[in-house]
Amino acid sequence: MTERQKVIAIDGPSASGKGTVASRVAAALGFDYLDSGALYRLTALFAQKKCVEWSDGAAVAALAESLPARFDGQQVFLDGEDVSAQIRTEAIGMGASAVAQVPEVRQALLQRQRDFLTDKGLVADGRDIGSVIFPNAAVKIFLTASAQVRAERRAKQIGLPCEGVAFDRILADIKARDEADRRRAVAPLVQLPDAHLLDTTQLSIEESVKKVLDWYSKV
Ligand code: DC
Repeated sequence: MTERQKVIAIDGPSASGKGTVASRVAAALGFDYLDSGALYRLTALFAQKKCVEWSDGAAVAALAESLPARFDGQQVFLDGEDVSAQIRTEAIGMGASAVAQVPEVRQALLQRQRDFLTDKGLVADGRDIGSVIFPNAAVKIFLTASAQVRAERRAKQIGLPCEGVAFDRILADIKARDEADRRRAVAPLVQLPDAHLLDTTQLSIEESVKKVLDWYSKV
């Protein structure tokens, strides 16, 4: 049997709270944390800054290959510039979803993601962590919540009310991105047969973190 890697793989749809849960689990265990979505967001932003269309797969893949990215705690740098806020906009989220559909872009970011694993251990979140990046992860989790609850969490995060036109837009964007991530031909978002389902619709962050730590303590 292939040896299990010291990795907790957390996959799930956008705005499900993966990042919050994953980074807290990493802190609790003294593991490193990889936000793989940030790499796709950085690629989309880099393309925008270089005036390369997101639909130009070959050109975007070339940019992904040489992505001048650096992570420092919660901060993300592109070419030395702090772009932590810029990569979190809905527009760049849609761009990330678009460039993530290009196989060459995914290939360009594959080894970079694997390189985050050291002896310390790693908690990584994304869409294909358990299926493609770390198929031998010690624990795999499919973390999700209803689209309504995810939209409410996103609205609160950016200080918007959970009703009205702006809220409806957030909900529609989340649903559109879910569709794109699930239907794409390459590395689609799926719950693997060997992944634990963690539905956080009714769970607090603390309860979600505890569940992950419990699963990890049992391997
Ligand atoms: O998790 P996120 O919202 O930051 O991800 C942004 C986009 O990147 C999302 O639409 C899908 C894509 N993505 C991916 O295809 N594979 C990953 N491992 C992580 C993100």
